[in-house]
Amino acid sequence: MREEGLLTAALDPQEAAIEAGLRPRRMGEFVGQSALKERLSILIEAAMGRGEPVDHVLFSGPPGLGKTSLAGIVAAEMGAQMRATSGPALDRPGDLAAVITNLDRGDVLFIDEIHRLPRQVEEVLYPAMEDFSLDIVVGKGPAARSIKIELPRFTLIGATTRVGRVAPPLRDRFGYVARLDYYEAEDLAAIVRRSAGILECELTSDGAELISARSRGTPRIANRLLRRVRDYADVRADGVVDAETAARALEVFEVDERGLDKVDRAILSAVIDKFGGGPVGLSTLAIAVGEEPETVEDAYEPFLLQQGFLRRTPRGRVATPRAYAHLGVAPPDAGAGQGSLLG
Ligand SMILES: Nc1ncnc2c1ncn2[C@@H]1O[C@H](COP(=O)(O)OP(=O)(O)O)[C@@H](O)[C@H]1O
Ligand SMILES: [Mg+2]
Repeated sequence: MREEGLLTAALDPQEAAIEAGLRPRRMGEFVGQSALKERLSILIEAAMGRGEPVDHVLFSGPPGLGKTSLAGIVAAEMGAQMRATSGPALDRPGDLAAVITNLDRGDVLFIDEIHRLPRQVEEVLYPAMEDFSLDIVVGKGPAARSIKIELPRFTLIGATTRVGRVAPPLRDRFGYVARLDYYEAEDLAAIVRRSAGILECELTSDGAELISARSRGTPRIANRLLRRVRDYADVRADGVVDAETAARALEVFEVDERGLDKVDRAILSAVIDKFGGGPVGLSTLAIAVGEEPETVEDAYEPFLLQQGFLRRTPRGRVATPRAYAHLGVAPPDAGAGQGSLLG
């Protein structure tokens, strides 16, 4: 059976609206990532001082860390309009041309999942980013001709979960490339407290700490856990989210002490039980847990690697002693396991 993960669960429209309401709109509301915020603020202030749009910016990092929020914040701080689209939505060069010729001077064009732009669309983007012009072919066959369209100066903001998949010529055309990393517990606690304020939910400080410790370093998950815990507190307790209520709620939703959810644990237990601890290839592992390889690689694996539950080797993914300990499984005889790998 396919498990619903906290990271990938589809939201109903009402939940999506709540999530949108929690999105930080201005730089001052964006918690943490202080070095990144300082660099962005310098970029923005300098550009505004010169009366120019900000240079193109690329945000990379795992899902839920604030890439889309930051794009909106840059636009808001610039007093600019933002148009949002995504790599997969821009199927043909004409799709991009349609979006881009509608921009006004200073607008922000946000392209999510920019690593999924088709190659021929990417090629239209290069001159647009560099010279603010579009070369497009109109007509077919012998009547086809290329025309050049001048564009207003705009700012392209790209976001990607996979910076390694962004073609180098595209990456090089961004004036600033920023990587977002998992958040510290303190910052997550601040995010959860901010969200509790917006949701008018009573949250104690130990409640905020417990939720932040189980949020996989990810603000989106912190907010989702807060909403689930709030539901639980409302119907099974007295409405106050403290550590005890939060712990009981997260047990119900199968989020463990390290913040791993069902999919995380399914991945670790597949490596251990089905593949003898590994090494196992990404696509084989993904099939075993019923997820897309890309989802496992971009959404789940980075945290498991960062936390030392998994290792990547040239031959595939390997479970670490920490993974065995976490699942309460006896590790294989260390000597024998290592020996067979090397032999
Ligand atoms: N630094 C932050 N401060 C406060 N909330 C944040 C922050 N980063 C992300 N969030 C919350 O997490 C949610 C997901 O962020 P988003 O920008 O959509 O992530 P991404 O685009 O990287 O997947 C947002 O709606 C927002 O509520
Ligand atoms: Mg996003």
